[in-house]
Amino acid sequence: MDQFKDLRIVDNFYQTSSFIPMPTILIGTVCESGQTNLGSYSLCFPYYIAGKDYYAMILEARNSSNTAQNILRTKKCSLNFIPDDKKYFKEAVRLGFPGDKTEDKMKNCIFTLKNSTLGEDRPQIVEEAFQVFECTWDDTLEDAYKDKAGNLEGYEPPYRNFNGITSKFGAHFILKVDKIWMKERYYDTIINGVTSNGFPSVPVDYGYRDSTNFWCSRFKKPFKEKIQAKEGDVQSVIYCAQRIDPNVKFTKEACAKLTKIPRIFLKAALTQMVDIAKEENISLIDENALTIINDKRRKEKKDK
Ligand SMILES: Cc1cc2nc3c(=O)[nH]c(=O)nc-3n(C[C@H](O)[C@H](O)[C@H](O)COP(=O)(O)O)c2cc1C
Repeated sequence: MDQFKDLRIVDNFYQTSSFIPMPTILIGTVCESGQTNLGSYSLCFPYYIAGKDYYAMILEARNSSNTAQNILRTKKCSLNFIPDDKKYFKEAVRLGFPGDKTEDKMKNCIFTLKNSTLGEDRPQIVEEAFQVFECTWDDTLEDAYKDKAGNLEGYEPPYRNFNGITSKFGAHFILKVDKIWMKERYYDTIINGVTSNGFPSVPVDYGYRDSTNFWCSRFKKPFKEKIQAKEGDVQSVIYCAQRIDPNVKFTKEACAKLTKIPRIFLKAALTQMVDIAKEENISLIDENALTIINDKRRKEKKDK
């Protein structure tokens, strides 16, 4: 432990006591006049990623911000992920200055706003973003619908644990992801296969540091690291495959093609393959059948 020093944990530890890489997101919300407000946010991460009725992000925000007040009032927001560009980050820092009114801050905004296609009550979205999530706040969790907009001087207790007003000046919002919009180039990357040139230029925000500057780093082309299949894996795939369904068998060659599936996901993946095989009247999954099944799995994933 000689190489580490014990650092005091203080308020805003994610930037005052550590280095956390974060996204740069402009959050669009609708203010009382109907105009779209853009606020800069980095504490916004995936929250429900699987196994729930919906997918969600979590946002941590100052509760008196335009964004928090608008979400409390209208529930809708757009999460606009901006690419690495110094002029965009400069603008994000300007849009992140606390206390500015929507009308003033949006007057000379350099970003292009486009109407949402999901409804007239929705905030506009930022054309320059590489991806946009349109979201609705789930105010049913923790009865957060009881929290109302309008209190800009700080909220009094009691506070909620994880959704709604969570402290005098803080709020957390669990945001149901209604739609993910992806720029075509990166859509192709996700659907047709990843190459190192197919990633959007994602900047990394390191937060508000030394009390005067926000710090950000430039995008660098990603590199890949192969996941090694472990020896003996064919036997464990065969063992598992034999136990899924007595009416659907896998050949050894097919099993050999499945060794890269991590052990903990193996049963679920094989079960899904057997279900598709049954729909297709396949009772022996060989390499050919596996291609048909995997195509169908990919298509189902795409259609979801
Ligand atoms: C890059 C960047 C990231 C920020 N991230 C957050 C954040 O995650 N949560 C937060 O409450 N404020 C954050 N801020 C500060 C807000 O942008 C600031 O409170 C601003 O007033 C929000 O705008 P609004 O009032 O129009 O919502 C960030 C500012 C910048 C420049």
